[in-house]
Amino acid sequence: MLSPTLLTASRSPRVRRLVTTAPGSRHLVERFVVGETLDHAVGATRRLVADGLTVTLDHLGEDTLDVGRASATRQTYVSLLDRLGELELAPRTEVSLKLSAVGQALPRDGHRIALENAHAICTAAQRAGTTVTLDMEDHTTVDSTLGILGDLRADFPWVGAVLQSCLRRTEADCRDLAHAGSRVRLVKGAYAEPSSVAHAAKRDVDLAYVRCLKILMAGDGYPMVASHDPRMVALAGVLAMRHGRATDSYEYQMLHGIRVGEQRRLVAAGEQVRVYVPYGADWYGYFMRRLAERPANVGFFLRSVFTH
Ligand code: FDA
Repeated sequence: MLSPTLLTASRSPRVRRLVTTAPGSRHLVERFVVGETLDHAVGATRRLVADGLTVTLDHLGEDTLDVGRASATRQTYVSLLDRLGELELAPRTEVSLKLSAVGQALPRDGHRIALENAHAICTAAQRAGTTVTLDMEDHTTVDSTLGILGDLRADFPWVGAVLQSCLRRTEADCRDLAHAGSRVRLVKGAYAEPSSVAHAAKRDVDLAYVRCLKILMAGDGYPMVASHDPRMVALAGVLAMRHGRATDSYEYQMLHGIRVGEQRRLVAAGEQVRVYVPYGADWYGYFMRRLAERPANVGFFLRSVFTH
């Protein structure tokens, strides 16, 4: 119950003010977010790549209702990609993009503006020699995001997308996207969703993840197994063996700061592991989703607020 309540409360401006100004926040934020600047992102990326991991960088920010901010985010991504190209960190480093950060949520022409901005970002990724994966936000955005994915793939067939097992529609989406060349990052889902469109019980979300993973691993695409759940990680290994998949035909993905030992263990076992690395000043939404995923994190947060 804590998770949906926290996600709903996180939309309140008072809660936002409290969390972003609390003296102990920064300490816990640093576990999940590598810093505010491009240099912080590059430094963290270099360390992870040196340890045999690959990276997907996320410039934090979402739900922009301002065309100027959407353009500024596009430019931030283009500069980031140019830098990754110069430093030869691509292709071991790609980027993750929230379409709501580049205009999807704008009331007029949001879909078109997000597509244009994402197209410019993909052009920069192509120049740098790397890829882009579209994050998935709440269920109201899924049709638009998958539509933009289809349009982008006409010019950039390597663009990937996230699918969330919590949504009832996702098994069908997995079947549609399990084709050759298709990169799908499968996650459980981090947004508070109504039961009309999503499984409410965690057990049902987990079972749906298993069904979706089976579809993707049996298909011809490139599954990205994005979960920290030891059962899902183990199942992916079993399915890869069953379908005769080589270790370069799928990958594991985890968030920065979560199950770091497991990330290293998988690399040592010869698996490909990509770490999702967020950076930027607008960490609030991302941070609240990480708190909501794990009640223990709320305890850490409250303790650190009170000890400061
Ligand atoms: P589960 O929640 O069952 O956690 C399994 C175990 O992992 C826990 O027992 C705990 O040990 C550890 N763990 C998980 N979350 C933790 C946390 N916050 N702090 C500490 N430990 C934690 N979601 C979405 O809706 N849209 C998206 O685009 C993405 N993108 C994305 C990319 C990548 C690379 C990952 C790994 C995840 C996402 N997510 C996401 C988030 C995803 O939907 C989900 O909320 C989290 O991954 C947690 O789910 P698990 O599969 O890890 O399982």
